[in-house]
Amino acid sequence: MHKKRFIISVDSCKPGMRTAEAIANRYGAIILYENTVLDEHAIEHLRNIGIRSIPVFEESMISVSGVDQDWAITHDGQSFNIKYEQDVHAMKKTLTDISTGKRLNKDATDQIVNTMISRPAENRNMIDAIMQIRTIDEYTYYHCMNVSMLSMMIARWMNLDEAMVKKCAEAGLLHDVGKAKIPPEIINKPGKLTDSEFALMKRHSEYGYMIVTEDRNFDHQVALAVLTHHEKMDGSGYPMGLTGDRINQIARIVAVADIFDAMTANRVYKDKDTPFTVFQLMQQDSFGVLDPLVLNAFLHNITHYYVGSRVRLSTGEVGEVVFMNRMDFSRPVVKVGDRFIDLAVTKSISIVEFL
Ligand SMILES: [Fe+2]
Ligand SMILES: [Fe+2]
Repeated sequence: MHKKRFIISVDSCKPGMRTAEAIANRYGAIILYENTVLDEHAIEHLRNIGIRSIPVFEESMISVSGVDQDWAITHDGQSFNIKYEQDVHAMKKTLTDISTGKRLNKDATDQIVNTMISRPAENRNMIDAIMQIRTIDEYTYYHCMNVSMLSMMIARWMNLDEAMVKKCAEAGLLHDVGKAKIPPEIINKPGKLTDSEFALMKRHSEYGYMIVTEDRNFDHQVALAVLTHHEKMDGSGYPMGLTGDRINQIARIVAVADIFDAMTANRVYKDKDTPFTVFQLMQQDSFGVLDPLVLNAFLHNITHYYVGSRVRLSTGEVGEVVFMNRMDFSRPVVKVGDRFIDLAVTKSISIVEFL
């Protein structure tokens, strides 16, 4: 059941209330998880960084004694995050239907893809939403939504036509649909998988292909992308070991989105890991694996959104990212006061926190 939420001003927040969605700062970094119980310190922090209002769960408001409900306003605007949450719920239902043996419903996925496609280039908000921290059991749902949005954005950044953009969004949404056929004990296993468990896990691509082709309304290119999203450019992927030229473009786009989302998913900014590190790792580790043209389009465009971010340096100083270094995304040029520090040159200084 959907829990009722209210948007309330930070000034009206009381310790004990729980956040109804992850709260991101204006650079997309998560500062509070969904379902966090607020304390004085957290409320103060929100105020300090200029956040005016946040969504909280109604029941948590009621349970906080002495709360005057007059200041609570129902949120009727279609904020991106709330819309995104609704899409996630729709996706969850689609995936649950499949795992219980129901057929994949093209209408349901169409609805999700159309809402995504029709959203006017709100890339900034999309990136914010994608950077939300997910709980493990909900991982697959959020992952499907994120990969779908990222694939769609990459297709747009590559100037592909709208028909291709839509196919990329669709393939991203469905790429891991085959996981619905894998036993949940394996999907949710916390530790490392055994060889045989991993072999079974790998079959999700084939299961996904079977599920998608059951409904003839799906484009065959999309079905093929679902089948081949774990193929690698050098032929070391699965299930067929195809090389780059044999993997369709949609699958090559989904692969980049997939790896990015997997790398950011369980990273917590409190652990002082930054998106810059993720971009750098992607560039470093993807040689022979990802399509360089797709990866370039992705990194070039997404890193652009991080210019202007505030970061804390190892010297303790706070600065603003003014230029991304394309050879090493983890070492941009940072402006501290009147000084410009090129971290690619000044290797003794590094970014320790993303503010
Ligand atoms: Fe997958
Ligand atoms: Fe995936």
